[in-house]
Amino acid sequence: MDKNFLWGGATASYQCEGAWDVDDKQPSMWDVYLHENNLENGDIASDHYHRYEEDIRMMAEGGQNTYRFSLSWPRIIKDKEGTVNEKGVAFYHRILDTCHKYGIEPFVTIYHWDLPQYWEAEGGWLNHQVCAAYEHFAKVCFENFGEKVTYWTTFNEPKWFIVNGYFIGNYPPGLQDVQKTMYGAYHVMYASALAVRAFREGNYPGEIGIVHSYTPVNGVDDSIETKIAMRYADNYCNNWILDTAALGEFPIDLIAKLSEKYDVSFMKQEELAIIKQYTVDFIGLNYYARTLVKPYTEGETQLIFNHSGKKGQSKVVIKNWFEQVKDPNSEYTAWDTEIYPKGLQDGLLEAWQRYQLPIFVTENGVGVREDVSVECVQDEYRIAFMNDHINAIMNAMDQGVDIRGYYAWASFDLYSWKNGVEKRYGLVAVDFENNQVRKPKASYYWFKEMIASNARLITRRKFEGDKIK
Ligand code: BG6
Repeated sequence: MDKNFLWGGATASYQCEGAWDVDDKQPSMWDVYLHENNLENGDIASDHYHRYEEDIRMMAEGGQNTYRFSLSWPRIIKDKEGTVNEKGVAFYHRILDTCHKYGIEPFVTIYHWDLPQYWEAEGGWLNHQVCAAYEHFAKVCFENFGEKVTYWTTFNEPKWFIVNGYFIGNYPPGLQDVQKTMYGAYHVMYASALAVRAFREGNYPGEIGIVHSYTPVNGVDDSIETKIAMRYADNYCNNWILDTAALGEFPIDLIAKLSEKYDVSFMKQEELAIIKQYTVDFIGLNYYARTLVKPYTEGETQLIFNHSGKKGQSKVVIKNWFEQVKDPNSEYTAWDTEIYPKGLQDGLLEAWQRYQLPIFVTENGVGVREDVSVECVQDEYRIAFMNDHINAIMNAMDQGVDIRGYYAWASFDLYSWKNGVEKRYGLVAVDFENNQVRKPKASYYWFKEMIASNARLITRRKFEGDKIK
């Protein structure tokens, strides 16, 4: 591994900061949605707002050299007019200064889903004005933090928050509407290009990319029908983000297909030209699992998401497009996520061949229930998971892929959206019941040694085959 390779962990503002109404922070759409629906929320979360120094110190003590985190828009901008909240800006200066004090490279996400409620009340991502408001927010971030940040990303996972918010309906604003999903998707990709333009025009130091929830697509066999289903699935899962951000164009066959039933006239030439011109410098890929598909056969569209942690509940069928299936040979978590490290190797190779841009693996991890009352959580499953996925990265690098960093999700235990805090991902345990006490897990110590060994500690193996046996 190159000695500049970035090794660290990732978090997101809503999931870890807490302090949801402190220092003039405005409510986000998640605050309001979870409060109104009486669901477990991130009001306190891991209280990173007050404990960031301890958290960042522990990263450094764990041998990590980078920290990926996001900026909260409703903490930084007070209202629709764009008034800056200096207390919010000061908080992120404290975070950045602490990173630099401990030799930690900050890797900054501008938007990780916590849209200010004052914009959600105006239609959120369905409202074109939000693109300009996001551009303003991004400029405020570049202006204030530009000297302290080298790596920026415009959005975390457009696919995830747009599809879940407007198509599946399990995230706020909880809609199930294809046309609105298309508006939201378009506005986010346009807003991303506006941020890239602002970054280039402002001549800020560093680089800017986008982070995608990457699920490389496999098919159950080699038939032509399966290949067609795979293309639909790839367009739905990956291409509308990565092609658009990296190549500057929405996939033409996706737009053609959607135009058979839906209005696409909202895609304006002058905006598409901005998308074409302002592509990213690098891509961030969050990898949890692949998407395995078979051709669609019958029935209505069904999109069921497992938030309960009771196995076997999720379902993705898109009528006339594809059906997602499970591999009987694979292991799945209680939340129905397949454990499939080979998918990361294949996906990295594919992304490299298509885009020829440097790649950071910006999230990778496994969510499990854990008893954190013990002195040190013995999370061998997480160590095995990380070993196998870092091995997949190394295999891809051996094949020539330019990979620059690896971020474990997550640096420490935090709030997992609709799953609450019982779905734990951290390298450091947070005892939410007991005064937020932090205790490194076995994986934290393993990660430290692995980094110190420059990945020589990784048990290497080659993967074979890619079809269901
Ligand atoms: C990614 C997100 O989708 O996966 C994170 O960027 C998220 O914010 C993580 O927490 C794990 O997903 P979940 O739903 O299990 O928390």
